[in-house]
Amino acid sequence: MTQPSGRDAIRRIGVSTGGGDAPGLNAVIRAVVLAARNRGWEVVGIRDGYNGVLLPEQYPDGGLIPLDAKAVRGITHLGGTIIGTTNSGNPLKFPVQQPDGSVVEVDRTGELAERLGASGIDAVVAIGGDGSLAIANALAKNGVRIVGVPKTIDNDLSRTVATFGFDTAVSFATECLDRLHSTAASHRRVMVVEVMGRYAGWIALNSGVSGTADVILIPEIPYDMAPIAEKIQERYSQGRGFGIVVVAEGARAKGGSYSVVEKKAGSAERLGGVGEKLAAEIREATGRETRVVVLGHLLRGGSPTTFDRLISLRFGAAAVRALAEGKSGVMVALVPPTVRYVPLEEATERMKTVPVDCDTILTARELGICLGD
Ligand code: F6P
Repeated sequence: MTQPSGRDAIRRIGVSTGGGDAPGLNAVIRAVVLAARNRGWEVVGIRDGYNGVLLPEQYPDGGLIPLDAKAVRGITHLGGTIIGTTNSGNPLKFPVQQPDGSVVEVDRTGELAERLGASGIDAVVAIGGDGSLAIANALAKNGVRIVGVPKTIDNDLSRTVATFGFDTAVSFATECLDRLHSTAASHRRVMVVEVMGRYAGWIALNSGVSGTADVILIPEIPYDMAPIAEKIQERYSQGRGFGIVVVAEGARAKGGSYSVVEKKAGSAERLGGVGEKLAAEIREATGRETRVVVLGHLLRGGSPTTFDRLISLRFGAAAVRALAEGKSGVMVALVPPTVRYVPLEEATERMKTVPVDCDTILTARELGICLGD
């Protein structure tokens, strides 16, 4: 196995999981650890994103967790992350409380890069979504040898066909839609199912089409109530006395805005509530009994599907391979049939939203699914 030698030799790497958890994180960690140990490298897990390095005082037993083969035994199929994660305290916008009680965001990436070096970490595998990979890109610019691994149930990262976690989330949402059909039909109700997907509607679209929803609302297509009500009434008038509506948490009415629940310094805004709002509008417009199910964090839990396990393991091994080949500042990407490396700069420059003319959207329309426009 080739690897840099001399001053550039890698002896110890750190692995970090940042942002919301996603099924497959543990499989990536396992692959990173085994592939690194096979090259004779030590591996440490950085706790809770980079908090283990930035805020060591919060971890009396150490912010770095030594990871050997034993530590990653039996975790491939487990949801969550054994090293912890966080979606607050972004080092690019680190929240710092001022004497007057206000909070300002400070860029701590330079300090983080120094602390990583001081911790004896020669290189980092950063597993995360857009926010974490933007941090990885900033660290690369600060001289840290780093390779990113694309994680997010939202599937909104550019330059990779898939992020791990997405397939599991879509599979679970589809199973929920299957289950909701019988209860909706028995009660002749409209069921509104809210799924995650902040600014990209991949989960809603793919699960909605697969789970034969009647209406699918995604952030990329702002909706009107009139076609939604018409579709639902048509279902009842044609004897299908129930309706299934899938709505992404980031969906919004034409001219309306996102349903933001919270925005804190150092964190992404938190969305929620669109399902309840929509259900009230559907009740009002159709007079039909309507119930709401918010799948929320259930989409992030549980075991990864086979697809997600396999790409997670492939991504983890490929990340270590990249470091061994002297690469840095790149993200591992799935470009079927293989795994490639793309510059972090390109992977993070824009979000991968659903193209409104993509074939899955066309399929939905051809199947008679209402997209709210
Ligand atoms: O980005 C992944 C994601 O699951 C989004 O779909 C969702 O909006 C967000 O994270 C929720 O994050 P939190 O864990 O803060 O509730």
